[in-house]
Amino acid sequence: MARYAYVNGRYVDHREARVHIEDRGYQLADGVYEVVGVRDGRLIDETLHIDRLDRSLRELRISWPVSRAALGFIIRELMRRNRLRDGLIYMQVTRGVARRDHAFPTLPVRPALVLTTKNTKRADADPGPGIAVKSHPDIRWGRCDIKTVALLPNVLAKQAARENGAYEAWLIDADGCVTEGASTNAWIVTADGELVTRQTDKGILAGITRQTLKSLCNVLQLKLVERPFSLGEAKLAQEAFITSATSFVTPVVKIDGETVNDGRVGPVARRLREEYVRFAAAGEPVT
Ligand code: PDD
Repeated sequence: MARYAYVNGRYVDHREARVHIEDRGYQLADGVYEVVGVRDGRLIDETLHIDRLDRSLRELRISWPVSRAALGFIIRELMRRNRLRDGLIYMQVTRGVARRDHAFPTLPVRPALVLTTKNTKRADADPGPGIAVKSHPDIRWGRCDIKTVALLPNVLAKQAARENGAYEAWLIDADGCVTEGASTNAWIVTADGELVTRQTDKGILAGITRQTLKSLCNVLQLKLVERPFSLGEAKLAQEAFITSATSFVTPVVKIDGETVNDGRVGPVARRLREEYVRFAAAGEPVT
């Protein structure tokens, strides 16, 4: 079956999909993106993701390439063409194609819009055995709240983790605190059962999965505190886990080679994953 990508107004064979060499995303990382999870044909938290895309665009003064309604249509059409039931939708908007100059183009350019999909195994309520994470200095810029395609520090941190047998990198700031993962938010459960995740500000991305999980914690009457936590505190935690559109809620059982608690998946992360999968499965089906 042909796999399609959407590139600036056209649905094209994924293998043939191209952007111009002077696309500012390609040359200057002058663009933003979103990743939306799809489970059983349902988009997970579509509105929140598109709201965040809107915010990223506004922060960088890139205009919308198509209307919001049109983007909703393109997403659905690509899902239909690619028979996407479980997986991800990737969407990227760059400032467009212009002769290379760091400053914004002076002539009006149309922002470039690209969408792709990826099929994955259907996310299970069972979290599996958990993952290992590896700490890495957070060397990113001061606007990590914007979801830009400028991801080189994240790429290098993730690669260092993978070369050390870990799935994810946990980024450590100048105070020795965990900001977030290379592509996920970071959480711990303390000895007295309190859930902790770093507060959102310009230092991290306000994850949509994180936001939804906050609401679920509220419904489940779990105590959640948003504050910085150190790498040392994380290593002594009862439990740890990550959240993202791709990982849902995934337990962390090892940090820098040291087991978290007894190295087994804990009850809080297990419960939250079950609840999140239930939430994802209950979304509006895409027609
Ligand atoms: N990453 N922090 C960072 C730095 C991220 O890149 C992501 C998402 C998250 C979690 O956000 P959300 O819950 O909205 O997915 C946190 C996506 C999945 C990616 O880059 O592939």
